[in-house]
Amino acid sequence: MAARLTQVKNHLQSIMSGTITAEKWDEVPLAPPDAIFKLTAAYKADTYPQKVNLGVGAYRDDDNKPWVLPVVKKATEILVNDPALDHEYLPITGLPEYTSAAARLIFGADSPAVTEDRITSVQTISGTGANHLGALFLSRFYHWNGKRVYVSDPTWVNHHQIFPLVGVEVSTYPYYDPKTIGLAFEPYLDALKSAPPRSVFLIHACAHNPTGVDPTREQWSKIADVMLEKGHFVFFDSAYQGFASGDLDNDAWAVREFVRRDVPLLVCQSFAKNAGLYGERVGALHVVSPSKESATRVKSQLSVLARSEISNPPAHGARLVSLILNTPELFEAWKEDIRTMAGRIIEMRKELHRLLSEELKTPGNWDHILNQIGMFSFTGINPSQSQAIVEKAHIYLTQNGRISMAGLNSHNIRYFAESLDKAVRGML
Ligand code: LMR
Repeated sequence: MAARLTQVKNHLQSIMSGTITAEKWDEVPLAPPDAIFKLTAAYKADTYPQKVNLGVGAYRDDDNKPWVLPVVKKATEILVNDPALDHEYLPITGLPEYTSAAARLIFGADSPAVTEDRITSVQTISGTGANHLGALFLSRFYHWNGKRVYVSDPTWVNHHQIFPLVGVEVSTYPYYDPKTIGLAFEPYLDALKSAPPRSVFLIHACAHNPTGVDPTREQWSKIADVMLEKGHFVFFDSAYQGFASGDLDNDAWAVREFVRRDVPLLVCQSFAKNAGLYGERVGALHVVSPSKESATRVKSQLSVLARSEISNPPAHGARLVSLILNTPELFEAWKEDIRTMAGRIIEMRKELHRLLSEELKTPGNWDHILNQIGMFSFTGINPSQSQAIVEKAHIYLTQNGRISMAGLNSHNIRYFAESLDKAVRGML
């Protein structure tokens, strides 16, 4: 005991005298703040009365307040008053009635993959966790020609961080055409054709983040043709089902079409936006297999990965979503809430377009505001114009000119349109 005490004393003395340096973390470089969440912090710290936050993709009502969906309030009440509610561990792969209902929601109850039991569904820490687990699973088990994922240029910033973390390199494929502020469809298709066979392509299922530009159904079919010809694997990221058009089935069309055509794929799913459950981190990873047997093996491996990373997923949000998806009246109420959110965003698009093109006669064509879809709009302005809007007008948006339409409302839309107009004219 005395010897041990002397040892500890000597160790402390060495730390205090500076002879032990390894734990000072002197060599750790300072990382830049997150491109999206730094805007939320700056917005909150800003005391300017007319400040506007168009940075993070989080829904706000017309009074700029976070909106707790009425159906979520109802489901929470049911849940907390349930005498059988406990706080036990969930199974490693999540709440089974949640994951199966989540699969039916994205694939459709009559999907051959669902009816033939070929989908492995695992609960994840929202869409980010699904992307991570999907990337980790592929990095371990996909028969790569070099570990590389192709993401759209541009894409959600976090995609660029998630894949390298598990040893997968990231390359980009053309997606956005700055001339038309629309889809660079031919270059996109050419990139699919020229990539090595069996490449992995990350594709946004709907409401592309950050551009709001989606392929048409005809274009989706052509994309599926090339995926099949080249034997590519599709890594679908679905974070906005319902948000794009207000219709859950409509927004799942591309995923369902690809499954129908047997394109090999997985889907990352999030309920952050469409259920307004940002903080609960409710998501799922769905891997579609050619047979029920392979789906069972896939599940066993995903279970090992999930166990070592999170052990068991959080219960509360999954219970809420499960209740909503599995109770017909709540499901109908949820669809109504989704229509409310999507409808308000569509109204904001119309009003912004009217203000810019009719009232302010802002130089340029603003039709893309109407043609784009979902939470985000790529305005087409350049980084210095974005910066001027942030710094001079106290309107927070990402440098690439992306705005979260959900941050606009009837009180601030004119101020934003006028500031954008001035920035475009170089008068801000
Ligand atoms: C966004 O793109 O703003 C959202 O998806 C939030 C996030 O996690 O980046």
